[in-house]
Amino acid sequence: MQRPSAAITGIGGYVPDYILGNDELSKLVDTTDEWIMTRIGIRERRILKEPGEGTSFMGAKAVEELLRKTGTKPEEIDLVICATVTPDHLFPATANIIADKVGIKNGFHFDINAGCSGFLYALATGTRFIESGQYKKAIVVGADKMSSIVDYTDRSVSPIFGDGAGAVLLEPNYDGLGVVDMMLQSDGVGRHHLHQKAGGSVKPPTHESIDAREHFIYQEGQPVFKWAVSKMADISVEMMEKHHLTSDDITYLVPHQANMRIISATAQRMGLDPNKVMINIEKYGNTTAGTLPLCIWDYEHELKKGDNLILATFGAGFTWGSIYLKWAYDSK
Ligand code: UT7
Repeated sequence: MQRPSAAITGIGGYVPDYILGNDELSKLVDTTDEWIMTRIGIRERRILKEPGEGTSFMGAKAVEELLRKTGTKPEEIDLVICATVTPDHLFPATANIIADKVGIKNGFHFDINAGCSGFLYALATGTRFIESGQYKKAIVVGADKMSSIVDYTDRSVSPIFGDGAGAVLLEPNYDGLGVVDMMLQSDGVGRHHLHQKAGGSVKPPTHESIDAREHFIYQEGQPVFKWAVSKMADISVEMMEKHHLTSDDITYLVPHQANMRIISATAQRMGLDPNKVMINIEKYGNTTAGTLPLCIWDYEHELKKGDNLILATFGAGFTWGSIYLKWAYDSK
């Protein structure tokens, strides 16, 4: 029997209502709208304010929308993978909590942590399960409540991140649509430039670690920037060359939304016009595992069956990668 490919057959998303704009942020730290727009390209980001709610709250909202839009019943789902760096708890996996919240009872669920490349890695993992032929409906979620680990007294980090979640349904396809190829890479040498110093097994939480603000994101912006620009562009161009794709063949680049300058550099290396690049960084900022599905969520209405998409990411680890897929449906 022909081996299926794995196709995205629906998308759901959720962003919190609360908007933290650059002007409000300028009252918390020494920054300006002009600096943030010029150096990063973010005007506002969403912040989850619901008391006692974390990443699974947003993930579950995205999955509920996905199930509703695709007419899928929770009991049909075989598998939920959640990419996140801000799980509800260190354990159990946030994917389990999301599945429970939306009533998925017949599947197995786990999390993936690959920094800002988390959704791409999770999509690659879900793809292999579908391609095996053993599983028929997998949900891949990218969700992060970055506001839970952002230090709002640190001007080098606080403008960048926001909260949000997106989710896709993956199903077998026998018409040559769906994921064509994936390239994933990591290099742990970069871990020192972007990490959370305390809260894990090396440095469990203590009063001292809290006082030293070590539970917040630590980022050395410039090395991360340099790596991101070269790795995201290199791997996207490699994907194009491997499949003999010209810029005309590509409908959209779906890039991780960390910095407008990184996105533009990647598009330029690929020879793509700006109108072939999905961009929503201005309104959501960097939602880490949420950026890719939230882009597709925003642009879904423009996508047609057979469109060629190149997904590209770079994140903590360091991790990076690219997925080439053929969009599987016309949006209504
Ligand atoms: O998604 C995960 C991967 N993360 C990324 O891709 C992030 C990659 N890095 C970046 O996007 C950029 O490096 C940042 C946006 C984090 C920083 O931009 P930059 O152009 O690299 O700025 P910089 O760190 O070199 O700082 C330049 C100046 C410094 O002032 P002096 O020393 O030149 O006087 C900073 O103190 O800008 C200053 N600065 C700010 N000024 C106003 C840093 N943050 C701010 C701020 N507002 N928020």
